[in-house]
Amino acid sequence: MKILLFGKNGQVGWELQRSLAPLGELVALDSHGQDLCGDFTDPEGVAETVRLVAPDVIVNAAAHTAVDKAESEAELARTLNALAPAALAREAKQSGAWLIHYSTDYVFDGNGDRPWLETDATGPLSVYGSDALVLQDLMRAHPPLAERLHPALPYTKAEVIWAVRVEMARSVEDVLARRCRALFLNTRAASDMAPEVARLMAEELGADDAWQRRQLAAFEETASCFRLA
Ligand SMILES: NC(=O)c1ccc[n+]([C@@H]2O[C@H](COP(=O)([O-])OP(=O)(O)OC[C@H]3O[C@@H](n4cnc5c(N)ncnc54)[C@H](OP(=O)(O)O)[C@@H]3O)[C@@H](O)[C@H]2O)c1
Repeated sequence: MKILLFGKNGQVGWELQRSLAPLGELVALDSHGQDLCGDFTDPEGVAETVRLVAPDVIVNAAAHTAVDKAESEAELARTLNALAPAALAREAKQSGAWLIHYSTDYVFDGNGDRPWLETDATGPLSVYGSDALVLQDLMRAHPPLAERLHPALPYTKAEVIWAVRVEMARSVEDVLARRCRALFLNTRAASDMAPEVARLMAEELGADDAWQRRQLAAFEETASCFRLA
């Protein structure tokens, strides 16, 4: 088994180097690699590294982890923590490799009294873990994407594109449960905007009308559980 590890010198990466080495052929990179790019400021470079190494498993322990500095280095934090991992995810999907990514509970808002699950809705309170800047860039490049999907709920069209493109959302419910669950907030409004969400997703994914119909049927089935009568 071939394992490609990014961020080999960090707190997590250092321990992973030791524990992954006995499991197979380990290619471990830091940000200053000479032959292979391990620098997350260059998402296309790390994607190229995945293609060159052709690993069975990609393990990502690289990140911008300075939570306070992320407030003033938002763009850099976003490149390291969102765009480069998204490039890894795309390559993993393309090649069939597994991707193990170490995230942070800073993507959650801190409420609740049980351990978080990966599937819980996120709600970052700081730049570390949020996606505001990339969304702004998307809306600047394509102003119609700034449009709200429904007057009653705070979702923009850009967020749908972002969720599909960067966060790998693949269903309408997946998009509409990202920050907080739209069906909880306003079931009727969530159902009203679902067709536009499906349309935007289909455009982004190159999916057909049948896919949109299936998505809407599945979303309506979930929505029916949220209606009182
Ligand atoms: N430590 C924990 O207890 C813990 C707990 C939960 C989650 N995590 C998550 O695990 C991940 C790693 O955390 P950590 O504690 O190991 O952090 P860390 O000690 O600060 O290490 C960060 C790593 O990121 C690398 N890095 C920084 N800039 C880079 C760039 N431009 N390109 C490529 N690599 C770059 C650093 O490598 P260079 O020195 O080569 O730049 C370093 O190896 C983070 O996502 C964190 O949220 C950690």
